[in-house]
Amino acid sequence: MPTETKKPLQISPSLLSADFTRLYDEIETIASADLLHFDVMDGVFVPNISIGIPVLESVRRVTKLPIDVHLMITAPSRYAEKFAEAGADVVSFHVEADDPENIARAIAGIHSAGRRAGLALKPATPAEAIMPYITLLDMIVVMTVEPGFGGQKFMRGQLAKIKTLRELIDGHNPSCELEIDGGITPETARLCEEYGASVLVAGSDIFGARDRAARIEEIRGGV
Ligand code: DX5
Ligand code: ZN
Repeated sequence: MPTETKKPLQISPSLLSADFTRLYDEIETIASADLLHFDVMDGVFVPNISIGIPVLESVRRVTKLPIDVHLMITAPSRYAEKFAEAGADVVSFHVEADDPENIARAIAGIHSAGRRAGLALKPATPAEAIMPYITLLDMIVVMTVEPGFGGQKFMRGQLAKIKTLRELIDGHNPSCELEIDGGITPETARLCEEYGASVLVAGSDIFGARDRAARIEEIRGGV
């Protein structure tokens, strides 16, 4: 019997928790990660404002890591393609933030820019909300905190949704990544892995560690 080889977990440190006065050095410290998570907030979809296209263009010039943009903005179809063109490798936006026609159009726009497209779900949004788009997506993002801020506690109530999404992905689009965002530590990472995650975002846990490379490895489960 062939033994199933499981793909290693991918880690995507969230720049939101970095020291913005030293971005270049901060990015160097997480070079052993698999992706770089880039949170965009507009102060409308979420009660916070973060960073946008000019910062993305600068970050693009100083890292080889694929940039994993997470748009927490209202009517994201206005901007999804612009982020793809500004250097994002993956552009994810919220299924709650636009209407079905615009969502489909934004996914197509990201793909036409040669980038990967993702849809994110807030904690209150059921897994099934992804169904109209599942075959079009390269990534699904499950929020395990209310989007808006780093450093919040992992919501264990989302684990059942992670499991449902793993089943839906396996049944409809097996190459789609399942990313979990919010409250990830080495402990919650193991739960997410068990329930079927393939990519983990971690902000405060990684940037709060003195040895970031070691912390990335701990979250990945390699130590
Ligand atoms: C929250 C953001 C997250 C956040 C994660 O709105 O989408 O990516 O930076 O931060 P931690 O890992 O500290 O929960
Ligand atoms: Zn995020």
